[in-house]
Amino acid sequence: MSDVIKKARSLLTPALVFHTDIVAERAEGIYVYDTDGRRYMDFSSGLAVLNTGHCHPSIVKAIGEQAQRFIHSGCIFYYPAIVELAEKLREITPRTIEMFFFSNSGAEAVEGAIKLARYATHRQGIIAFGGGFHGRTLGAVSLTTSSARYRRNYHPLVPSVFHVPYPYCYRCPMGRKSGDCSMECLGYLEWLFTHIITPEEVACVIIEPVLGEGGYVVPPGEYMSRLRDITEKYEILFIADEVQTGFGRTGSWFACQHFGIEPDIIVLAKAIAGGLPLSAVGGRKELMERWRPGSHGTTFGGNPVSARTAIEVINIIEREGLLENVRTVGEYALERLRELKNRYPCIGDVRGLGFMLGIEFVKRDGSPDAPLLEKVMTGCIERGLIIVECGVYKNIARLMPPLSTTLDEMQQALSILEDSIKVSLQGG
Ligand SMILES: Cc1ncc(COP(=O)(O)O)c(C=O)c1O
Repeated sequence: MSDVIKKARSLLTPALVFHTDIVAERAEGIYVYDTDGRRYMDFSSGLAVLNTGHCHPSIVKAIGEQAQRFIHSGCIFYYPAIVELAEKLREITPRTIEMFFFSNSGAEAVEGAIKLARYATHRQGIIAFGGGFHGRTLGAVSLTTSSARYRRNYHPLVPSVFHVPYPYCYRCPMGRKSGDCSMECLGYLEWLFTHIITPEEVACVIIEPVLGEGGYVVPPGEYMSRLRDITEKYEILFIADEVQTGFGRTGSWFACQHFGIEPDIIVLAKAIAGGLPLSAVGGRKELMERWRPGSHGTTFGGNPVSARTAIEVINIIEREGLLENVRTVGEYALERLRELKNRYPCIGDVRGLGFMLGIEFVKRDGSPDAPLLEKVMTGCIERGLIIVECGVYKNIARLMPPLSTTLDEMQQALSILEDSIKVSLQGG
């Protein structure tokens, strides 16, 4: 075992889980090189962060130039990067998103979004979705239900948070089969309003437009539009948590755009600044202006170096035509995954949008097969491909490569994946 891993295990709390035993030395584009010089295709993108790839030259340049001029403000000074970034975000986010609050991480922005919702509406109730992941701080983890493991030993959590089922059709939470469904999962919301909390007391719903950590699930379009209608009917704020789906990952800037949804509030983080810490809450001007001076704040949020880098991330995605690339290469990938599913009964379902692709591994009886996925992932790493898992049972492989991944690279990666599945099945 390498010295770095030995020291990490003695110095860092075991609460922090590393997905691989690779010790990275350098990285470039979609590739990471370890300390022995081995090269890996990084289909994790550092957990959906490196949408423009590792160490993009324009990003390295932007970081250097900004760092030489002005690194930190602490809200003492105004500086151009923060307003230029807000202008850029206004251009690419849905029409309803007009003003921003910058912070450092996804969880912190989720906290900001629910605080804003409560503050602006004077209502307390928050509705989140079963299987959702919104972060680890106490407020965010109160919304997170992708696994009870993340909540264990932290109760009592934030009160007046209620969960309704996410439309995970492959494993329908209401026990329905496709073709035999009248969206009972959505009906559960009305049940909640009748029995648990009246809609007039609910400040917001917060939803991932494609479920991330919970299993890479794309909801039916009809579900999303009917949910939006319900929020409008009761004047409940619609918060889109686009932390994982954002910045082109699904082939449009934001996943809610696939469903024609214009949220009241949007939460952005992960890929926003090409690997530097930055996040944002965006919202309607009229809502944001109800947030009185001092009612929310930050020391580091919107850091000049992160903000300048985020502007460059947007420029690169536009300049290099990465959204089109994700759409075409993503379509090819999904088609090829469907072929794999037809040939390998251990693949129960494949799904996704753009470069957010999920492959669900199952046993003969359809139950989750995490040990098989574990073998497949190990085989992929041995062959130079990094993929990670998701889902409460850890049986879903997620492919989330950088948006610049070419057709040829996608073909290589899927061939490695298939080889690894074959070998893992032979191993019994
Ligand atoms: C949808 C979603 N929201 C929020 C978060 C929390 O982000 P962070 O880990 O930066 O706090 C994540 C992280 O995976 C996420 O996927």
